[in-house]
Amino acid sequence: MKFDTPATINPIDRLKVVGKPHPRVEGPLKTTGTARYAYERHDAVPDHAYGYIVPATIGKGRVLSIDTSRARRAPGVLAIVTAKDAGALGKGKYNTAKLLGGPEVQHYHQALAVVVADTFEQARWAASLVKVEYAREKGAFDLAAAKGSATKPGDDADSAVGDFAGAYAGAPVKLDATYTTPDQSHAMMEPHASIAAWEGDKVTIWTANQMIAWSKGDVAATLGLPKDNVRLISPYIGGGFGGKLFVRADALLAALGARAAKRPVAVTLPRPVMFNNTTHRPATIQRIRIGAGEDGKITAIGHESWSGDLKGGGPETAVNQTRLLYAGANRMTAMRLAVLDLPEGNAMRAPGEAPGLMALEIAIDEMAEKLKLDPVQFRILNDTQVDPEKPERPFSQRNFVQCMREGADRFGWKNRSSTPGTKRDGAWLVGMGVASAFRNNLVMKSGARVRLAADGTATVETDMTDIGTGSYTIIAQTAAEMLGLPIEKVVVKLGDSDFPVSAGSGGQWGGNSSTAGVYAACVKLRENVAKNLGLDPATAVFEEGKVSAGGRSLPLAQAAAKGEVVGEDTMEYGDLEKRFQQSTFGAHFVEVGVHAATGEIRVRRMLAVCAAGRILNPTSARSQVIGAMTMGVGAALMEELVVDKRLGFFVNHDLAGYEVPVHADIPHQEVVFLDETDPKSSPMKAKGVGELGICGVAAAIANAVYNATGVRVRDYPVTLDKLLRGLPTV
Ligand code: MOS
Repeated sequence: MKFDTPATINPIDRLKVVGKPHPRVEGPLKTTGTARYAYERHDAVPDHAYGYIVPATIGKGRVLSIDTSRARRAPGVLAIVTAKDAGALGKGKYNTAKLLGGPEVQHYHQALAVVVADTFEQARWAASLVKVEYAREKGAFDLAAAKGSATKPGDDADSAVGDFAGAYAGAPVKLDATYTTPDQSHAMMEPHASIAAWEGDKVTIWTANQMIAWSKGDVAATLGLPKDNVRLISPYIGGGFGGKLFVRADALLAALGARAAKRPVAVTLPRPVMFNNTTHRPATIQRIRIGAGEDGKITAIGHESWSGDLKGGGPETAVNQTRLLYAGANRMTAMRLAVLDLPEGNAMRAPGEAPGLMALEIAIDEMAEKLKLDPVQFRILNDTQVDPEKPERPFSQRNFVQCMREGADRFGWKNRSSTPGTKRDGAWLVGMGVASAFRNNLVMKSGARVRLAADGTATVETDMTDIGTGSYTIIAQTAAEMLGLPIEKVVVKLGDSDFPVSAGSGGQWGGNSSTAGVYAACVKLRENVAKNLGLDPATAVFEEGKVSAGGRSLPLAQAAAKGEVVGEDTMEYGDLEKRFQQSTFGAHFVEVGVHAATGEIRVRRMLAVCAAGRILNPTSARSQVIGAMTMGVGAALMEELVVDKRLGFFVNHDLAGYEVPVHADIPHQEVVFLDETDPKSSPMKAKGVGELGICGVAAAIANAVYNATGVRVRDYPVTLDKLLRGLPTV
């Protein structure tokens, strides 16, 4: 179905179920511990063995030898697989480094072997007996040092409009500042985990994965199998944040181990291995130059970003938002990529915009101060309703200014002191900060199948995933709305590669795109139902379990009396992306307290105002945004993978050393959604919202810290050691 096919009957807009704050339909399973995650599928695979990873302990070099003799004699060991005895392995489209390394070691904790045994403890013990000898090689591990050798990673790495250099040179007010963001880890709750079982040359993998179709293809490519010989099953996922977009070593090692042991095998990555074995958000160095007239209008804006990745990898696209967020006739952006031998960089929640706004939104705060303008006013003054790089291309919808105004009102922004370091609450210096939120809205082709049974229930099947986001619920709401059923009559089955291919969960496209696919399948089902009942499909109305047309009204279930009725379709978007710039907008407001003597930073209040199209379910959308805001607090104040620049690895590779916010760190959080619909995004008129929630948060906190203390920190995370020397004397 084409996204702009006019809806004939019962458009989704009647909002009987969609748009309502429905609790998560799978909530009881989660809260009672009965939703089975990948590593807990003893029900499906009762007699599986356990595989344990042997990770490389050098950052770069070669394996000289792997001695498995002691491990092979250890109790319970069934098989050991290294690159030598794994057979020929291909490489998936979405992996930069090999999931099973050797003899070349591309990064620290790259898998070199899997040891399979009857029990987990036996496998772990035997893995500790595997002896690997290495020849260590010199690697590049330091982004700042490698920056000079960074290259342009593709034609779209740069953009230029007008005469940036000239306009910047001539601007009466200007800023030239450099900001740094560190490597970060997804640190989701559920570790990467898989169970693999072979039947002949067909493999089924129960795994934790955001993108079933991508990963099915990559498993097939890696194992050299036809796609049809691979089945992935991933119904429940304990968080992903981009870390589970791709097949990781757990899935491949489980498949290889199971093939060698001739028994199903379960592999999970131990938490201390995850940080270096899997992907992370790459560190950036960002230089921002802004020139403006005395009237506060930006005349020149330039943003350059440097990041690193393994050879063959890609850049952190931190300039994304600068191409679209503010007006200004003269502009430039540029990304440069250095080859680093650290673990593989890739997407983490709102890749591009999240670290990009960490820099840009401090720069905007600094610029507002130079112009003696309120930072909310400065942003509003530089709004644009068209893509500033391609003015002929409008935004599908852009209510950015409304977010700023509404947020300022609700937060009590007028009480902020414009002179930093002047507000106190006892021992605490108090400050407020604001930042724009911006994240692109991608629409992705998505398919689904809906089956209507004789008992009047509808079952939706799609390979869409729910990574904790609420997919089950909004998909159930969509089908209920379309079929005129209560939500209790809809069963949703997700995360199986045997189901129609969906958009999957990534880049905040999942909510809008996957429900649009379900919408398309329901349109098909309604046609089939109407035909079955002898009613006119063009005018049939589906309501309260009945189908009515031409003065007749029949129970929906009757259509399936002689066998189930099925509708299957895929929503497609054609050239929509070319015609409109689709983005989501918001404003983040934060109040912090900084202890005047110790520099301890406490977030006191947070508010997000979001303009993200129709909100399909205010409960789950709010949860997404407060989760993202919480991650923004981590990015601002805590999260940093510390690089050992001599040996090439992330030192703090566990949850004791890699700090993320806990409940005690998080204050009152408020989320407001503007009442908008975006008819140009899909028939759902919704957009992504989960990633919007993190975009800008860290800068709002950094700006609040500046407002509280007068200390401007441009190097994340903002920790107290960076404040101490500058704190106002008591
Ligand atoms: Mo997202 S970082 O594309 O899961």
